Amino acid sequence: MALKIANLSQKGGVGKSTLSRAIAVEYARNEWDVKIADMDLKQSTCSLWNRERMKNSHSPQIAVETFSKVKDALRHEENYDLMIFDGSGHADLQTLEIAQICDYIILPSGLSKDDLTPQIKLAHELRKKGIPRKKIGIALSRVGKSARELNDTVEYIELAGYKYLGYIKEKTSVSQSHDEGLAANETKYKSINEQVDVLIQNVVDSIQELS
Ligand SMILES: Nc1ncnc2c1ncn2[C@@H]1O[C@H](COP(=O)(O)OP(=O)(O)OP(=O)(O)O)[C@@H](O)[C@H]1O
Ligand SMILES: [Mg+2]
Repeated sequence: MALKIANLSQKGGVGKSTLSRAIAVEYARNEWDVKIADMDLKQSTCSLWNRERMKNSHSPQIAVETFSKVKDALRHEENYDLMIFDGSGHADLQTLEIAQICDYIILPSGLSKDDLTPQIKLAHELRKKGIPRKKIGIALSRVGKSARELNDTVEYIELAGYKYLGYIKEKTSVSQSHDEGLAANETKYKSINEQVDVLIQNVVDSIQELS
């Protein structure tokens, strides 16, 4: 059975597809067979990205497929070491279904309360439905220059009782990388890539702590 990680949100545009792609790349670099289950039928962000990735012959190769149903995504899970579920732009019934079959759930968020409040609410809802607190982590995306704003946000996450996983800075090179079929940890800038990899290492460690 594949290890399964989900990127989910209550609100759109918070960094789910960004993290799905970066995590996929990091595990694939370590010789894992990785598949992204792109559950966003309307946008198919990861599927379109992978087309660009293949066109530009970037390695490591990642398998990406769009699915409308979780059970279809799981049909060939034995062929993979890791499956990453990239959730759609809003929480729906499928969000809970994905959370229930995944080993670890990442709720990405921007620094604003507009992004964070719905994600904390989603975390509480998942817990009410039986998902253990330790299976949920919050990652921050599109982080600006203010260290104070970042610190305050981390404090807010931890006071709410959730694990803070790390952050990705808001950078044009991240969105440019996406356009070329590369991930947030494959930009031209070592410092950005390393910061993303710190976040991903925290995900890896959090999953290891579960077993
Ligand atoms: N750190 C960053 N710096 C600059 N741009 C970013 C960064 N992270 C994400 N973006 C851009 O912001 C947009 C939203 O990010 P992303 O697609 O990861 O969010 P999402 O949660 O998957 O959105 P949706 O809910 O629509 O599926 C994308 O255009 C992406 O390229
Ligand atoms: Mg997306």
